[in-house]
Amino acid sequence: MSFPKNFLWGGATAANQFEGGWNLGGKGPSDADMMTNGTHTTPRQITRTWEEGLCYPNHFASDFYHRHAEDAALMGEMGFKVFRISINWSRIFPNGDDLVPNEEGLAFYDQVFDELHEQGIEPLVTISHYELPWHLTEKYNGWASRDLIDFYVRYCETIFTRYRDKVKYWLTFNEINCGTMPLGGYLGLGILNEGTRDFLNQVDDPQLRFQGLHHQFVASARAVKLAHQINPDFKIGCMIAYMANYPYSCNPADVIACQQKMDEGNYYCGDVQVRGEYPHFAQRVWDKYGVKLDVAEGDLEDLASGTVDFYSFSYYMSNAVSTDPALASTGGNLMGGAKNPYLKASDWGWQIDPDGLRWTLNELYGRYRIPLMVVENGLGAFDTVEDDGAIHDSYRIDYLRMHIEAMKKAVEVDGVDLMGYTPWGCIDLVSASTGEMGKRYGFVYVDADDEGNGTFDRSRKDSFFWYKKVIESNGEDL
Ligand code: BG6
Repeated sequence: MSFPKNFLWGGATAANQFEGGWNLGGKGPSDADMMTNGTHTTPRQITRTWEEGLCYPNHFASDFYHRHAEDAALMGEMGFKVFRISINWSRIFPNGDDLVPNEEGLAFYDQVFDELHEQGIEPLVTISHYELPWHLTEKYNGWASRDLIDFYVRYCETIFTRYRDKVKYWLTFNEINCGTMPLGGYLGLGILNEGTRDFLNQVDDPQLRFQGLHHQFVASARAVKLAHQINPDFKIGCMIAYMANYPYSCNPADVIACQQKMDEGNYYCGDVQVRGEYPHFAQRVWDKYGVKLDVAEGDLEDLASGTVDFYSFSYYMSNAVSTDPALASTGGNLMGGAKNPYLKASDWGWQIDPDGLRWTLNELYGRYRIPLMVVENGLGAFDTVEDDGAIHDSYRIDYLRMHIEAMKKAVEVDGVDLMGYTPWGCIDLVSASTGEMGKRYGFVYVDADDEGNGTFDRSRKDSFFWYKKVIESNGEDL
């Protein structure tokens, strides 16, 4: 057995990190537009107005807004079957709570989807990817407010109806489980508590976060039901930032700590969206943070009847969990954790672990038994443009090759049902965590620096030609 014949090879992006044109075509500002750039060591700042002298990289991003036709052609040349893109909510509803959608924004995505189809590429659309309309944060404190359920459902109804015949695959919320962590308060939930400015060290309120997540679960479930009514052929997925965690040692205390971290970080959200109910350990999580969930009449019925058709996730790294204070926070990855002595890390400290992807695929398929899709994976790295314009990114090819080999084993040897693979940032884009352009993931290089200087012209890296070959051979020629 090999990858299935209709395996969805492609790449992934998000509007706020890729489009630019942040205030064009009637678009309102989103939360991402309020964030400055940072670095690996200097956190991004969240500002409530645009401050003189600061750089807001999502404003220009990769300028897809003006270059979508060229980008679609490049993806077509690589042989993409699918392109993961998000719709920028504030391009459709500039304030989020408007009653009437912005026609210019709707027409923009019409054009993008048409261009993709001309290249034989199926769009996979994330409905909400870290780009809540800023007004919803300012006025309602984001998803802390139940009002957002209705605004989201109105937005879904608008885009499901408009793109009924152009889009088949949808994801309701990007990395919804980030809401289980303080960092996800602003990023995924649009909650901005008084005093927060430093993106990595937000003023946290777990009660608001878990309540916000509950609102997102209900909104997602209602969207799934609506989608199937509007077009029964639609396939709707959840999207989880899968945090592969290993016990650092066989000390049972490490094993239990690791299990609880997995429950809270990964399965709390996945179980609701796939199984349609809160998991058995949910009360333990709420008790840990003193959370009292407000569940309205009908919410649990919504959750039960709006389960997803497939499970998608991002996978970049793994982490080790130790109860030994000397090891517990030795910088295993973005979220802290213990350093795993068996793994190497990227320039940004993310531990590279292809076997962890095979393990993850088996974990997930064993638990849920629905089709899976890896919708983000990749290596953020500095690239060098040679004098002749070439970009020799063998490090990126190595990373991706190892992860595709791991997926292959999961499919061929272990029998996992995997639908597709869309590596992150297939055309260079702005980093979500640091706001840098210099942290590059793409097969296609974008000539822009961290401050937005450059021509924004596109060029093919070595990995472009390699990935084209991978797709042509359906993953056989690696
Ligand atoms: C995922 C997000 O967490 O990781 C993307 O869905 C993000 O938006 C990606 O860009 C890579 O992270 P970073 O911080 O390197 O951009």
